[in-house]
Amino acid sequence: MIYEPSDDTYLLCETVEKKIERKNLKILEMGFGSGYILEFLHNRGFKNLIGADINGVAVKNLKKKGFNAVKSNLFSNIYGKFDLIVFNPPYLPHDKDEDNESSIITTGGKHGSEIINRFLGDAKNHLTEKGKIFLLISSLTKGIDCGDYNKNLLSEKKLFFEKLEVWELAI
Ligand SMILES: C[S@@+](CC[C@H](N)C(=O)[O-])C[C@H]1O[C@@H](n2cnc3c(N)ncnc32)[C@H](O)[C@@H]1O
Repeated sequence: MIYEPSDDTYLLCETVEKKIERKNLKILEMGFGSGYILEFLHNRGFKNLIGADINGVAVKNLKKKGFNAVKSNLFSNIYGKFDLIVFNPPYLPHDKDEDNESSIITTGGKHGSEIINRFLGDAKNHLTEKGKIFLLISSLTKGIDCGDYNKNLLSEKKLFFEKLEVWELAI
């Protein structure tokens, strides 16, 4: 199963387009799913792009479109540093009624933040000196630990049942 682009996907796209001017930045998208965000960025002139996803089918699909895509559990197969890392993570708290396949793309652990916290722990080793993370989060996600990152709210969108935000995080 591959995540269908949704409000969170579009908010992250709009935010990168609004906030990032330099097209030559080295950008990693963690958890690219359908590849919508990478294609969006490519179409707007960003050319130094790489994607990582734990889903092998998603990786195969994106490679077929000519993108640099790596099968990776967070940073397990990612080497080097990036100027920008974008992540629309699985951020919902565990729901016992959700099946396994769909929970891999939407559920971030018991509180919704476990994958995000693992990601944040590793991501600092993959940022260039002025590197930044653009992280999508939801008001439904509990327990995010930003540690020693500086945090800045870039954009938000209120939906019927949740509020989405994009945070900029940097060390
Ligand atoms: C909410 S979807 C976002 C998909 C796409 N970026 C978008 O915005 O439409 C989360 C994505 O993270 C991927 N993912 C989940 N756990 C992961 C992990 N441990 N490492 C890498 N990717 C993961 C899922 O396969 C899924 O594609």
